[in-house]
Amino acid sequence: MGTVTSLTGYNAVVIGGPMYVGKIDGMGKFAKRHSTELARVPVAGFVVCLAPVTKDPVDREYAQKALRASLAPLQQVAEMVFAGRLDPAKLSWFQKWMIKKAKSPVGDFRDWTAIAAWARELPGKMGV
Ligand SMILES: Cc1cc2nc3c(=O)[nH]c(=O)nc-3n(C[C@H](O)[C@H](O)[C@H](O)COP(=O)(O)O)c2cc1C
Repeated sequence: MGTVTSLTGYNAVVIGGPMYVGKIDGMGKFAKRHSTELARVPVAGFVVCLAPVTKDPVDREYAQKALRASLAPLQQVAEMVFAGRLDPAKLSWFQKWMIKKAKSPVGDFRDWTAIAAWARELPGKMGV
């Protein structure tokens, strides 16, 4: 999202990003910046976070709502909340402190089979 300057020439757009402290990095700004072009093409969105790992439906719902809010008023043709990963070795001391306080699950929870299955369905859903 940081490097795309124009959506001219795209006939479908898949937008995704990680959730940090309840917010999806850069997604809202990207959607606003390209709102006119995005309104003309099918859009699918996903968020990567640890909400699916906690198995608490409230966490997943929060992530889904954050995704919708970031892309609003766009209507997504497909949306997904994917489980990500948390490697404490890659975090700053402050981030480590935050995840400890939040009792975040630690590990790699990415389900590549589920990710591939979702991706395979996109062309059909997006009509491309
Ligand atoms: C400081 C910090 C804050 C986070 N905040 C949330 C959060 O609010 N909700 C959530 O579900 N996951 C949260 N996560 C987990 C990340 O979404 C997860 O690590 C994800 O895989 C990050 O994407 P990336 O691996 O592409 O950077 C947080 C992780 C860190 C390190």
